[in-house]
Amino acid sequence: MNILILGSGGREHTFAWKIAQSPKCKNLFVAPGNSGTAKIATNINIGVNDFESIKAIVLDKAIDMVVVGPEDPLVNGVHDYFLNDEAIKHVKVIGPQKEAAELEGSKEFAKQFLYRHNIPTAAYESFTKDTVEQGYAFLESLTPPYVLKADGLAAGKGVVILNDLEEAKAELKQMLVDAKFGEASTKVVIEEFLDGIELSCFVLTDGKNYKILPTAKDYKRIGEGDTGLNTGGMGAVSPVPFATPEFLNKIEERIVKPTVEGFRKDNLPYVGFVFIGLIKVGDDPKVIEYNVRMGDPETEVVFPRLKNDLVDILLAMANGTLNTIDIEIDERAATTIMLVSGGYPEAYEKGKEITGLEAVEDSIPFHAGAQLEDGKIVTSGGRVMAITSYGDTYQEAIKKSYQNIEKLHFDKMYYRKDIGFDL
Ligand code: AMP
Ligand code: GLY
Repeated sequence: MNILILGSGGREHTFAWKIAQSPKCKNLFVAPGNSGTAKIATNINIGVNDFESIKAIVLDKAIDMVVVGPEDPLVNGVHDYFLNDEAIKHVKVIGPQKEAAELEGSKEFAKQFLYRHNIPTAAYESFTKDTVEQGYAFLESLTPPYVLKADGLAAGKGVVILNDLEEAKAELKQMLVDAKFGEASTKVVIEEFLDGIELSCFVLTDGKNYKILPTAKDYKRIGEGDTGLNTGGMGAVSPVPFATPEFLNKIEERIVKPTVEGFRKDNLPYVGFVFIGLIKVGDDPKVIEYNVRMGDPETEVVFPRLKNDLVDILLAMANGTLNTIDIEIDERAATTIMLVSGGYPEAYEKGKEITGLEAVEDSIPFHAGAQLEDGKIVTSGGRVMAITSYGDTYQEAIKKSYQNIEKLHFDKMYYRKDIGFDL
């Protein structure tokens, strides 16, 4: 098979690393890819939302399957684009259709879905510019902290949590009236604050059957001790030690089953990955959010633990035969530490040479914001590289990643030294 992966992050390098191991994959392409995917696949320099160019490549390279990494093209309808075009209709696309991708594209859509199917989540109400006064009143009725979410995609920045009522009201005004997040904040969801520890659950579905991948926990804040600004993710651990079999069973029965059943009942066309952001409140799981893709950097710890041929799984998802697959998991723990550009998630410099990769032993460096330039590997984004290791325990795996990071260098390199501190 000829396979095209859309995306350019650590998640997509991990997809490429796993797919390249399959004897069923003949030619592997990544658009646009990075310096990591360049080594194991052919990079094609086109954007993930440039559907016409993607179609041209699919025809030119006789692509049989497209695996969509990020949410953007899904929310923009890339799967529907294929289905509506006779020339590329036959190509298998891994990722939900536009209507189902709204689970990530609109927080309100997701909340309505959760409520409709009785899936545990925080209580909420949503507001627009015309109902901002009711929004203030709703905030007054809540106890702090206040959770405000821009309805649409806001590059991971659309959630604001505040302790002060007046600040929360001002934030609500900025979002709704002053269009702080543009189109994305024409609607704002205000939620009950849930107090607990977070984890991520990853589900594969063909629309009727599902399989659950190992859980993972990511570290979203830039600073040690989970402080400072939110990032895309600074590190991850799998499995999650506090996710006991009993707790996992609650996740499956109360959340995964009704979610997949909900896709069927609501006629939401879903072939792809469901990333369920969860919070453990007391002993019970509640849903914080749905993402319609794999997580990054969670993929960098989940896929290394998957023993199956990923192409077999992707084919079963596309063909509606996921029930025939037995997921096999490596018992070892996997951890990853993200190396980022100094200044991230705010302004940072690019084009810094990354050295020391040849000295890395017993860890896998998954490239993210890194590109080949004149034979050198240079930084090209905020999150630069995820260093993944295995261990009999997560502590051992983390130690290996940190030992290898000692050998790596680029100007203003930063990483958190406390991944796993809270487990
Ligand atoms: P989201 O973009 O929906 O994942 O939200 C970003 C982060 O905000 C989550 O990872 C949580 O840490 C936090 N968060 C979102 N919703 C809530 C909530 N209802 N209660 C507490 N924390 C929340
Ligand atoms: N690491 C969180 C995400 O991929 O959204």
